[in-house]
Amino acid sequence: MLTDMLNRPLLDLRISVTDRCNFRCTYCMPADNGQKYCFMNRSELMTFEEITRLARLFVSLGVRKIRLTGGEPLLRKDIDQLVAMLHQIDGLEDLSVTTNGFLLKRYAAPLKKAGLSRINVSLDALDPEIFPAINGVGAKPARILEGIEEAIRQGIKVKVNMVVKKGMNDSQILPMAAYFKEKGISLRFIEFMDVGSLNGWKLDEVVTSKEILNMISKEMPLEPLKENYYGEVAKRYRYKGTDTEVGFISSVSQPFCGDCTRLRLSADGKIYTCLFAAQGTDLLGAIREGASDEMLAARIAGVWQNRVDRYSQERGKNPTMKGKRIEMSYIGG
Ligand code: GTP
Ligand code: 5AD
Ligand code: SF4
Ligand code: SF4
Repeated sequence: MLTDMLNRPLLDLRISVTDRCNFRCTYCMPADNGQKYCFMNRSELMTFEEITRLARLFVSLGVRKIRLTGGEPLLRKDIDQLVAMLHQIDGLEDLSVTTNGFLLKRYAAPLKKAGLSRINVSLDALDPEIFPAINGVGAKPARILEGIEEAIRQGIKVKVNMVVKKGMNDSQILPMAAYFKEKGISLRFIEFMDVGSLNGWKLDEVVTSKEILNMISKEMPLEPLKENYYGEVAKRYRYKGTDTEVGFISSVSQPFCGDCTRLRLSADGKIYTCLFAAQGTDLLGAIREGASDEMLAARIAGVWQNRVDRYSQERGKNPTMKGKRIEMSYIGG
């Protein structure tokens, strides 16, 4: 098993399949940031064959979970074919997708057919005025809810992710909790993070998991659950008297770098050892120059074995810490 300088094993790979998104969430790639987004060209993107080759190599190096992200992964043409290719990899225990859900109604059936058994859908509000203002393109919550319903109808297990930002959607915490409790769907609250450099992050706009937990448990009592797997990002609870879970992703107030087992692969084939990394290590260039599996494996191993990243913990000690780093839409959370 590969371990890094802080003895953390490499277990998860998050693969971004495109840097494009059909949303402009204010906390991620705001529409009004004064600059036009400059996206990758098609020829710079890894092909499905290149992704699958790398995924196999990563699994041989110990990766057990793969998540497809973006930008918005369902914008990548024939994404279900990639899912089918990855689904066949021996030794891969978990394959999933993180999506904004806008195209999910259409893709749920092909994704299920390709072997996808679970999916995480982002939804930040149920209110028909608040949600369009957050996603920046006027998308209505009803459309995302239809996507979620269709995924469930197809037999795909759904979790919902809600980024909470003060003044933006804190009014939606209780309505979201009540709605998804009623539906029996697991909702996870995510603290607004200082990823990238475009979202104007301020510490006082973070609503902490503790605050959210207190709000919810006053109305709907909760009991804590044990970790599902080593390094699980969300702290999970159950609504008392039900099987429905709710989770808290507290990357700001309680960073989880100590057992961070995640490596990120960008759509143009670079690996990043942290969500807040400034630079990646190119694999696609090496592939296209004819590198063997052994050469690629050695490069990956070298990167992981030298890894010391624990950005969120360090920022915890120094909240004004700044520096160049990649955007969330480039690396997919
Ligand atoms: P499950 O396998 O379903 O537990 O997935 P997950 O929670 O790892 O994946 P998902 O894409 O749903 O992640 C939810 C959110 O957690 C992301 O959007 C990020 O905001 C946050 N997150 C995930 N991994 C990291 C990480 O390594 N560091 C930090 N700081 N935040 C992370
Ligand atoms: N803070 C926390 N989560 C974020 N995401 C995007 N930007 C941020 C941020 N600044 C989350 C989205 C989605 C995933 C892809 O990343 O809500 O769940
Ligand atoms: Fe929103 Fe996700 Fe798109 Fe970022 S990548 S703008 S969080 S939908
Ligand atoms: Fe892992 Fe970096 Fe996130 Fe810490 S901040 S949990 S090291 S990705």
